[in-house]
Amino acid sequence: AAWEKQVRHSSTPRRPNGLSVLVTGAAGFVGSHCSLALKKRGDGVLGLDNFNTYYDPSLKRARQKLLLKHQVFIVEGDLNDAPLLAKLFDVMPFTHILHLAAQAGVRYAMQNPQSYVSSNIAGFVNLLEVAKAANPQPAIVWASSSSVYGLNTEVPFSENHRTDQPASLYAATKKAGEEIAHTYNHIYGISLTGLRFFTVYGPWGRPDMAYFFFTKDILQGKPIDIYQAQDEKQVARDFTYIDDVVKGCIGALDTAEKSTGSGGKKKGPAQLRVYNLGNTSPVPVGKLVSILESLLNIKAKKHVIKMPRNGDVPYTHANVSLAYRDFGYKPTTDLSTGLRKFVKWYASYYGIQTKVKKGKEVNSEHNED
Ligand code: NAD
Ligand code: UGA
Repeated sequence: AAWEKQVRHSSTPRRPNGLSVLVTGAAGFVGSHCSLALKKRGDGVLGLDNFNTYYDPSLKRARQKLLLKHQVFIVEGDLNDAPLLAKLFDVMPFTHILHLAAQAGVRYAMQNPQSYVSSNIAGFVNLLEVAKAANPQPAIVWASSSSVYGLNTEVPFSENHRTDQPASLYAATKKAGEEIAHTYNHIYGISLTGLRFFTVYGPWGRPDMAYFFFTKDILQGKPIDIYQAQDEKQVARDFTYIDDVVKGCIGALDTAEKSTGSGGKKKGPAQLRVYNLGNTSPVPVGKLVSILESLLNIKAKKHVIKMPRNGDVPYTHANVSLAYRDFGYKPTTDLSTGLRKFVKWYASYYGIQTKVKKGKEVNSEHNED
């Protein structure tokens, strides 16, 4: 009963017509930022996360602690635990699900393929099954990925470009998620919005991502591997700052139409959408490194490999006009500004003395503590 009270308290909105959102992957990078932003607006937020050890779980615990300070409660559990999910819906009639839990990371898929199938396919289906049975059915916004464009080099990517050449199992499971969403929308009238994020970075980020461990290795004087093509401009990422992505997620939630079914029965056609959430400004990895060198005031020991890595896509670049049209999505943080905020957070979180070079301060409400 104490548990139920906590679930209800956390997920009850504090403003009139506020949303009540189940955020999966709430102890993760994007999930923790979105949970805080929604809570600060007065929406009700309940988190779900299995705190897996894919990367340092103490970072997930630290995010959880920050969320708890803002009265966001995270239930510890797995997407594949159907009775647990059903119980959450029994306690709280969620209006929305922001589904961010997944096995992320492109290269790890070669070491542990089954974890991608389990979380990104089976776990997603399990969540959809529970959502379908709920009465009323929640509208779902979920994380797809820029990796669905795969080997496509026709940039910038628009949502209707081809996505049939995934370069990794991770990408294949994200693409599968989009197909699965189509069937649940079609058969059960669940409102579904997929967001293709483009290499998201920022404070409280993921230690398995290049910008994060490059910072760590440069500070420790360790060499870093830079994978690039013969022409270094042919490998680039549309690095997107976390606050911009959070705004996109909230815009998608706010404009999601209601599901048209309930209790597993469809009443009419429901919304099905997919959007790019990128930065519209691709940057080669070498440039990412030179920005970090300048911010940290340390020369990196660079080991340049003139070959793409297995599983990597060569180039990403988002066209975001659809997200702009439908919910005003407009990325506003350039890579230098965003990396400065990341490096500052990194130094303070790990208690490291650095003199981050001065630059224009942009107020961010998400990188406190
Ligand atoms: P993250 O790993 O920090 O967050 C995911 C969270 O989900 C983790 O805390 C993990 O413990 C949890 N989780 C994983 N499997 C679970 C399961 N079966 N049950 C319950 N919890 C589970 O990753 P992130 O960077 O915050 O990514 C969020 C979403 O966005 C993911 O779906 C990811 O694939 C997608 N995405 C991220 C990026 C990026 O650059 N960060 C880019 C494109 C897409
Ligand atoms: C990131 C996330 O890790 C995925 O979860 C997400 O789905 C994906 O973005 C996406 O946008 O869809 P990726 O862009 O590969 O994937 O991010 P990183 O692993 O941080 O790599 C960024 C760039 O640095 C890549 O070009 C990669 O080749 C390069 N890199 C990475 C190196 O040059 N050296 C390294 O040691 C590691």
